[in-house]
Amino acid sequence: MSMMGTAPVVAEVVGLGELAPGRIAIQLHAPSFVAGLRPGHALHLLRAEAGGYRLRRVAPVTLLDPLRGVVEVGLQPRADGGRDSLADIRIGERVALTGPIGQPIPKVPRSTQLLVACDGEGFAWVRLLINSAVVEGRSVVLVQSAQTAAELIPAALLPERVEIVVATADGSLGVRGDIADLLPQYVAWADQAVAAGASTLVDAARSAARKHSSGSRTTARGSRSSRREGDAWLSVIVTHEVGCGSGVCGGCTVPTRTGSIRLCREGPAIDVSSFDGGR
Ligand code: FES
Repeated sequence: MSMMGTAPVVAEVVGLGELAPGRIAIQLHAPSFVAGLRPGHALHLLRAEAGGYRLRRVAPVTLLDPLRGVVEVGLQPRADGGRDSLADIRIGERVALTGPIGQPIPKVPRSTQLLVACDGEGFAWVRLLINSAVVEGRSVVLVQSAQTAAELIPAALLPERVEIVVATADGSLGVRGDIADLLPQYVAWADQAVAAGASTLVDAARSAARKHSSGSRTTARGSRSSRREGDAWLSVIVTHEVGCGSGVCGGCTVPTRTGSIRLCREGPAIDVSSFDGGR
């Protein structure tokens, strides 16, 4: 039972990579999907298993290679910390794809300075955004936090033009602390921000944004109509285990001021002005 109208497309695994230590990325030859995918989209992966079972996963799109017709998706870790059984997939195997799932991360019109805050899990949801923004000529600052340096996203996975700012809880790299210690100095610079990760990270971004919109601020581009732009200024993506991915199970529902939304349909990004986080 699927609510998605599109027929599955069989795609071959053409490469495997790592998004962060222990987090697998799968590259799939799926040229018919490339043109329709945007940052924020996910795909539904289906692999036939022994005994007639079918393994389903919703995986965020992490990179696109239009020339090769390749789509890279990130496998999200399971909520119980276990290894995803798709993580043993091999080059040359085939999976069926449907999608896209979800909505593109909205872009603030005329934004030139993008701030992205993420943790290791959130990175899968914003990697394509970061790359696309660099291609568009926007300046990008990535603020990331982890328990320790070994858990950080390898800088080699990011375009060289991205400025990377790091906080670690144990002080092994960058600032000792967490993302809340770093964000205030960058919110004044950015004209769009996207935070993706655990709820603590998202809360820190929301509180930095609140100060940002309440404080008076001028930018190199002069004054702005702060209320309207402030409303869409910060989008948040709370990482979660996606269930059905097709709007049916309700497992991804979050409350907003304008009613409940399903992260797999109306999300994954939520405009912070409509997000009350259940409070
Ligand atoms: S994951 Fe089932 S409704 Fe979103």
